[in-house]
Amino acid sequence: MKKNVRKAIIAGNWKMNKTRPEAKALLEEIKPLVANAGEVEVVACVPFTNLETAIAATEGTNVKIGAENVHFEKSGAFTGEISADMLTELGVEYVVIGHSERRQYFGETDETVNKRTKAALAAGLKPIVCVGELLWERECNITQEVIARQIKLDLYDISAEDVKRTVIAYEPVWAIGTGKTATADQAEEVCALIRSILSELYDEATSQAVTIQYGGSMNAANCAELLSKENVDGGLIGGASLKANDFNTIVQAAVNG
Ligand code: 13P
Repeated sequence: MKKNVRKAIIAGNWKMNKTRPEAKALLEEIKPLVANAGEVEVVACVPFTNLETAIAATEGTNVKIGAENVHFEKSGAFTGEISADMLTELGVEYVVIGHSERRQYFGETDETVNKRTKAALAAGLKPIVCVGELLWERECNITQEVIARQIKLDLYDISAEDVKRTVIAYEPVWAIGTGKTATADQAEEVCALIRSILSELYDEATSQAVTIQYGGSMNAANCAELLSKENVDGGLIGGASLKANDFNTIVQAAVNG
């Protein structure tokens, strides 16, 4: 019943894939397929090197462009990093923050996720903040604690107005790139938990306004069931976002679901 108060968002996370010509070609394929997505927000989060090409290729369409990371400082001696102002100046609207691959391979912590999220919000970007438990954390039955800790730390000191511009992506780490999807019930359970934590931290109305995505081996075959769940408002899609037809199938499932 509350699902229709929130924006459904289907976002591709291209990760470290596609050169500029390949990016342009994929977006040219995606654009006409998703043109009828209506109220569903369609986003492609692409490597930094593809941002300018992607923004030019999607100008005047309903496909929005996101980055895959952002630094929290405004400028300075941070070799290899990109600031929020650099992204907004290009026309970027979304940014993935705290993806489990950043946490696992690049030392991202909840503290830096929080700082990056604040910097993104201050610059007018819409952050997609990723949370999720490891397999052994699920096996130890501490999924709820892990998620609660991440949400509380990642959103520390972020206002209710700002959290409404923030997307939360629940991505169980064991389901990413493994072909093992969380069942629709498992996804719903944790997305509902995230909403109840948001309600505690803010209030019920704010929690109902936040888009919560599921990510982790979401594909053309399993998307409809996942997206039919009350608290699953969209998807953050890795592998399947690199195939125009599969990505569109997921967008159409969100349009129908
Ligand atoms: P896959 O869809 O390839 O499992 O990746 C999910 C993901 O990490 C999206 O951010």
